[in-house]
Amino acid sequence: MKKISGKKRKYKVGFFKKKQGVFSEELIEQICSDLEGVHNFEVLRDLDYRRMYLKNGKVFFQGKDLSDLDLYFWHDIIEVNAWKGDNYYLNILKALEYDCIVVNNPESVRVVNDKYFSHLFLKKAGLPVADFALVNAKNKEALIDCFESFGGEVLIKPRFGGFGAGIVRIDSRDRLLETVELLQCYLPMGEEQLLLERFYKNDLSKWVSVVVFDNKVLFGYRKKLLGQSDWKIYDPDRIDARGQFTEYVEPDNNLKEIALKAKKVINKDIICFDFIYTEEGYKIIDENGRPGLYQHCLEEAGVDIRKEVVSLIASKLS
Ligand SMILES: Nc1ncnc2c1ncn2[C@@H]1O[C@H](COP(=O)(O)OP(=O)(O)OP(=O)(O)O)[C@@H](O)[C@H]1O
Ligand SMILES: [Mg+2]
Repeated sequence: MKKISGKKRKYKVGFFKKKQGVFSEELIEQICSDLEGVHNFEVLRDLDYRRMYLKNGKVFFQGKDLSDLDLYFWHDIIEVNAWKGDNYYLNILKALEYDCIVVNNPESVRVVNDKYFSHLFLKKAGLPVADFALVNAKNKEALIDCFESFGGEVLIKPRFGGFGAGIVRIDSRDRLLETVELLQCYLPMGEEQLLLERFYKNDLSKWVSVVVFDNKVLFGYRKKLLGQSDWKIYDPDRIDARGQFTEYVEPDNNLKEIALKAKKVINKDIICFDFIYTEEGYKIIDENGRPGLYQHCLEEAGVDIRKEVVSLIASKLS
């Protein structure tokens, strides 16, 4: 209960989760009923942030002013590219944050979708993230310097990417300069930034993604090479959409600890970190805002996702 001008009223929670994967209509309804029945919150269902708009500093949905919400929960398929730069969703959710708690908070979503910022923040926090560089595509000297100091083998990664698509592996100076020249023909005017990463030899049988939910590690999972690449986990046709080719892994304490620290740095409540096992030990090579909450992994880890979502929301209001 919240005390407003001396009167007690129920907390108001906006909820948005589309039916997808383990989130069946039934599960979504159970979560909302628990929030109402167990926690006595008032729940506004199907509050789609994409249909919200801003009027005089307040956020509206279908003509209704949302400034009396206490919390807004959304967990959606995130099109990383739609979150580039100054974008509508970020602006709306940031405005909503003036009046209520937003989970997942928009700044953390902006950061997690951008490999440059995610890597930068983790590196600055002293976490074992892959060596990376941001260079101006026109600066050949800087390109060569990074290439050499990264041991003569690099990846060019899309800053906003997914499914391993578009990541190119380069093992010679000539090839690097050639590829960058080609990219420059396609980069939009004024866009000159390239993200490079050191390529690490790694044991793909030890690749692991660690899923963090709120303040705990739920489980780990391992993806396999699916035949389209011999060095990267790559699934542009989404053949592993439900994790059919993904196996459950119990991460060791070292990985759990790194993942929890990394979660704190990015500050997103639902997140996962992909690790590769290199000669220097485990390195984070990717941060994802949409972990694979696969049914079989949840079952093997003994996680009740209904309880987790409800307690994440309730913990923010207690
Ligand atoms: N620095 C690296 N050294 C060696 N291999 C790497 C490195 N970075 C990425 N890879 C390989 O490429 C795969 C895809 O890279 P990354 O996860 O960055 O791309 P993504 O498009 O964000 O993929 P995802 O679908 O996991 O979000 C990794 O899972 C890993 O197998
Ligand atoms: Mg990714």
